[in-house]
Formats: sequence, C-alpha cells, structure tokens
Amino acid sequence: MKILVLNGPNLNLLGTREPGIYGALTLAQIMARLADEARAKSVDIEWHQSNQEGELVDRIGASRGRFDGIILNPAAYTHTSVALRDALQAVAVPCVEVHLSNVHAREGFRHTSLTAAACIGQIAGFGPIGYVLALEALIEYLGRKHT
Ligand code: DQA
Repeated sequence: MKILVLNGPNLNLLGTREPGIYGALTLAQIMARLADEARAKSVDIEWHQSNQEGELVDRIGASRGRFDGIILNPAAYTHTSVALRDALQAVAVPCVEVHLSNVHAREGFRHTSLTAAACIGQIAGFGPIGYVLALEALIEYLGRKHT
C-alpha cells in the first residue's frame, strides 16, 4: 500500500509558526512520526510540502495509479481552492483531509472547506496525531470493498 501525504502553504514553518495553535513540532518531526507508524503497518508513504497551489494540484493529478490513498492538509487552500477540489475529484484517489487545529472552533472563514467534500473524511483538532489517525482511517477504508 502506497500513501501520498501532501502539506500545503506555511506548514514548512511549523515549529515556530503560532505554536499556541499548531504546537512546537516541525513538519519533519510530524512526518517522521507518521513514517514510523506507516513502517509498522507495512505501508509506504511519500510526503511533500508546497506553498504553491499548482504544485499540489500537479501532485494530486499524478497520483492515480501510483498511490492507493492521499492524506492532505491543504492548509489555507482548504478554504479557497476549487482547483484542489477538482483535482481530488478528477483522480478519485481516496483522500483524508487533516488539520492540526480545530478549524471549526476558529475564525468563520476557516469553517468552510472546499476540499472536504472531495475527501472520504476530515480529521481536525488533534494536532500531529491527526496524520496517524488519517493513516489508520485510510488503511481501514482501503481494506473494505467499494463498488
Ligand atoms: C490548518 C488550518 C488552516 O485554516 C490554516 O490555514 C493552516 C493550517 C491546520 O492544519 O490546522 O495553514 O490546515
């Protein structure tokens, strides 16, 4: 099983970015923890971070046939990107949306996700462990039959 993990804009700044909201771990540390969990479950992961919407669109667009599932934290593009939503719908690779913070308890503009409807589900508010929960959810989902 191969899972693509995509992280959107400003997540490269984790560790120093608003630690009261996003915690003290860097993205590399969060991804290392996820990689440990994946290894223990014999799952291959490939992770990327980009501040460019088009790069994220390209990576989603190239995922069909190469990856069994996607874990996506679209960051700010969650709330704005029709292009990311269309890319997810186009490839139809099962995707779980992750947010470190509880976006629903924050500013009103964060309550809307344009991408979540193109995902099998959303995990928000659990910090870095949200990526691990997303991995478990994807493994469980992919183990079921979908007609
Ligand atoms: C975020 C929440 C978004 O609203 C915000 O723009 C981010 C991070 C999160 O992981 O909590 O950059 O996706």
